[in-house]
Amino acid sequence: MATSGIITGIVSNLVTVSCDGPVSQNEICYISTQGTKLMAEVIKVNGRYASIQVFESTRGVKNGDRVEFTDKMLEVTLGPGLLSSCYDGLQNDLTTMTGVFLKRGEYTPALDSEKKWAFTPEASVGDTVEAADWLGEVKEGWLPHKIMVPFSFKGEYTIKWLAPAGEYTVNDKIATLTGEEGDVDVTMCQKWPVKVAIKCYKEKPRPERIMETGVRVIDTLNPIAEGGTGFIPGPFGCGKTVLQHAIAKQGDADVIVMAACGERANEVVEIFTEFPELIDPHTGRHLMERTTIICNTSNMPVAAREASVYTAMTICEYYRAMGLKVLLLADSTSRWAQALREMSNRMEELPGADAFPVDLSAIISNFYARAGMVVLNNGKRGSVTFIGTVSPAGGNLKEPVTESTKKAARCFYALEQNRADKKRYPSVNPIDSYSKYLEYPEIADYLDKTVEHGWVEKVNRTKNIIRKGKDAADQINILGDDGVPMSYHEMFWKSELVDFVILQQDAFDAIDALCPLERQRYMLDMVLDICAKEFEFEDFEECAAKFKEMINFFRQMNYSEFKSAQFEIYKAEIEKLVEQYGK
Ligand SMILES: Nc1ncnc2c1ncn2[C@@H]1O[C@H](COP(=O)(O)OP(=O)(O)OP(=O)(O)O)[C@@H](O)[C@H]1O
Ligand SMILES: [Mg+2]
Repeated sequence: MATSGIITGIVSNLVTVSCDGPVSQNEICYISTQGTKLMAEVIKVNGRYASIQVFESTRGVKNGDRVEFTDKMLEVTLGPGLLSSCYDGLQNDLTTMTGVFLKRGEYTPALDSEKKWAFTPEASVGDTVEAADWLGEVKEGWLPHKIMVPFSFKGEYTIKWLAPAGEYTVNDKIATLTGEEGDVDVTMCQKWPVKVAIKCYKEKPRPERIMETGVRVIDTLNPIAEGGTGFIPGPFGCGKTVLQHAIAKQGDADVIVMAACGERANEVVEIFTEFPELIDPHTGRHLMERTTIICNTSNMPVAAREASVYTAMTICEYYRAMGLKVLLLADSTSRWAQALREMSNRMEELPGADAFPVDLSAIISNFYARAGMVVLNNGKRGSVTFIGTVSPAGGNLKEPVTESTKKAARCFYALEQNRADKKRYPSVNPIDSYSKYLEYPEIADYLDKTVEHGWVEKVNRTKNIIRKGKDAADQINILGDDGVPMSYHEMFWKSELVDFVILQQDAFDAIDALCPLERQRYMLDMVLDICAKEFEFEDFEECAAKFKEMINFFRQMNYSEFKSAQFEIYKAEIEKLVEQYGK
């Protein structure tokens, strides 16, 4: 019989329960109170007492209320229909609701149990299969959605019966498998505990290619690998969300999962209204067809916020097991860490730095480690690329969440208040930001082959120009315009050229927002050619004026269709200037 218990203490969302039987860590339970049932998770067991965190407000819950334990961990339901859905952290379907918020104690099913999916079998009766092997396929939008042997199955099974091609709901039986313990039926949906990584693959090799995002500061200067990890720390209002949305809209991925974790309610409403309208630049179809949104606003209880990033990651791993490229974006992981802190403080655990849990670093690393490219058991490849934002309080990059994330993530896109103030968007600091993938020989090889031979060297040269430009600017600031040689002015303006043409990108312009790699290469080549030249100017004023003119034409180029007549006119103007003043 399932264990039940009686509430003996309540501190905000943390409730102590006296239990009449065994309970396990992370088990899910329900509190019966005021005619509703509130979901909660066990986070500590001490003798007969269990501490549970409630996923909803505990207003009105009282001592003596009954708790029923389920003997199950927090699970997500996986199956066709996840895409184009909006869920909260507990996978309640928010699209079926009239507003974004559910009533207390209300839980909605994750998948539509009535919708029929056209199933095509891919395996045959008599085949030997194991967890995550593909049994067949349904089309989810235009994406092939594999129906897999449930991940929880252990050992080998033989297919005894497989449904013929036809229309089925997610709960219809589509196969009978025979294993050591007899026959088991399989449907199109399965459940999986969110906090456990799905490890049904052969190996997890090092990343070997980059994921194009269409954002120049990322692709050109600090590329992220397919199956890689990156993070965007930045003070409030510096453009984290805009940058992440740009990546979501343009990223070269089959499936996108957006986890809006602890975001403001109005931003979430924006995602809800904006995303369904967006058109996918790769397919011309609605972007939402390949997107799942998981959101929890700051006004939802902390426990639900903590759960949301795990729910999102599990959905990503599910699609990865189908051999798809998945992109996970979490905004913001700081609020997830704050949720961890709130819980840990209520439990009166010994606090770590800034009162975050002592194992914050391990929690973050473990989470980032779930991303990656994998080789599936059938030899196909799938990947989860993860980019999270961090909002460090006061823009302090030394605070624990940023520091821990820096250890775990391989790409660092530091947004800077100063650049945001000057409206130099995206405000990614070109000097502090890095991508460790550029140091991987596999990635350098890939870039050599797909972009251009010696590309990494070019990227480093570009970064050097920016660095030298900054030094020159510092000198000019100290010594005055006339106090430095002309070459300093030239150096400074060359870095400004890189800044305006390559680094800055208007996320709200239809053309400039998406810059394919080929175009990025073309522009970088033009800019580097100019930077390699020496110029002859009368004085620093002429230097500034001519570079400004050039920058202006370049910006017009960025706003024009690639290689259109207009584009070529601006290019010719630039060439004229270079010819006139360059050596
Ligand atoms: N690439 C860009 N192009 C043009 N404008 C931008 C760009 N990036 C950011 N902005 C401007 O900066 C504003 C703030 O950006 P955003 O909401 O992304 O900041 P944030 O870092 O997510 O803030 P918060 O910490 O409050 O969540 C945007 O509303 C927009 O006007
Ligand atoms: Mg934001």
